[in-house]
Amino acid sequence: MNVIVGQSGGPTSVINASLAGVYQAALKAGAKIVYGMKNGIKGLLEGRLISLNGILDSDLKIELLKRTPSSFLGSCRYKLKEIENDTEEYEKIFTLLKQYDIGCFFYIGGNDSMDTIGKLSAYGKKIGSSVRFVGVPKTIDNDLMVTDHTPGYGSAAKFVATVMKEIICDATVYGTNYVTIVEVMGRNAGWLTAASALAKGEDCVGVDMICLPEIPFTVEGFIEKVANIQKRKKSVVIAVSEGVKLPDGRYVCELSDTVQDVDSFGHKKLTGTAQFLANECAKKLKTKTRAIELSTLQRCCGHLTSRTDITEAYQVGGAAVLAAMEGKSGVAITLVRISDKPYQYTTGTVEIEKIANLEKKIPVAWINDTHTDMLAPFFDYARPLIQAELTPFYVDGLPYHISLKE
Ligand code: F6P
Repeated sequence: MNVIVGQSGGPTSVINASLAGVYQAALKAGAKIVYGMKNGIKGLLEGRLISLNGILDSDLKIELLKRTPSSFLGSCRYKLKEIENDTEEYEKIFTLLKQYDIGCFFYIGGNDSMDTIGKLSAYGKKIGSSVRFVGVPKTIDNDLMVTDHTPGYGSAAKFVATVMKEIICDATVYGTNYVTIVEVMGRNAGWLTAASALAKGEDCVGVDMICLPEIPFTVEGFIEKVANIQKRKKSVVIAVSEGVKLPDGRYVCELSDTVQDVDSFGHKKLTGTAQFLANECAKKLKTKTRAIELSTLQRCCGHLTSRTDITEAYQVGGAAVLAAMEGKSGVAITLVRISDKPYQYTTGTVEIEKIANLEKKIPVAWINDTHTDMLAPFFDYARPLIQAELTPFYVDGLPYHISLKE
């Protein structure tokens, strides 16, 4: 039979390695055609499918795909309706799956995308369909339950720690009072912001403060901490999560005047926290400030991927095909850590309802008493994930990427 694969949610710099993993494993397992949905489930609903066989037809293209950041097939943030309320979308999807002789459906995504796998497998069960639905994990946020970590996180963490080191070098040049606030993605989980702690080493003093969404945040408390650090150090570099929240539950960025869009899963667009806090520091502490929002740079940094991450991203794609071949459906692939030193892992599966729509936060025991730095368990956890590099293919001085022709 044929298989279909889609990508959903915010991209990562290694999400295409998972696509390559699904594609190659599916062909090896005997699939005739590997279809791609353009823009995930939204595109599928609009009948926008393409055969990948004619596109990914050489080893070079597969290698290029692995080294191309962002979602090759395009993405979406689309929530399927509740089955009890409306089955029209499901009927449409299952008709298409039948029409294209699809036996397995793979969806590469985060906790919201796993909602799609959960709903489709539940509907499939209800109507007695034999199509198998398997989720392939990805997200820079690293907030999926059960899995030890998610593909995409290691490379984004490597990028964040790297740029923090570079920012710290730059921030000391004038020798004057200077507060640099760097905003890191991660919505409601601080895993990626915590990765800025990895910058510290024998060649780098590290960041001075890390603000995570796991710890309630007050603007006054923040200013006080910065003022205290400035008493002993002129240049202060801070990593702040886009998702830091006030004790009343509002995001700090809601205090700023940036526009707050909401996506189909009800997530607010988080932006402007660093700028807001930098303005507050400038006003209250009369210091030079700079706000740096890493924004999409941290999830499309194909020039700085972790080889560990990209390898794992490829493997979870293959593991998803294997799981489907074994008859599993309504599951997602997980990474299971065997040991930290040496770093060893394997893959597993988990029932989709154990991860869909849920968020895994950093254990508070991994954060220091003053809530400004990470403790040893975090370093043991995160350091293996950023190891080694896979450089892009450079052409004419720049990374070369593969893309779908419109
Ligand atoms: O997919 C996760 C993520 O990158 C979050 O870190 C971030 O808050 C969100 O996506 C941004 O989403 P979008 O690109 O749709 O605005």
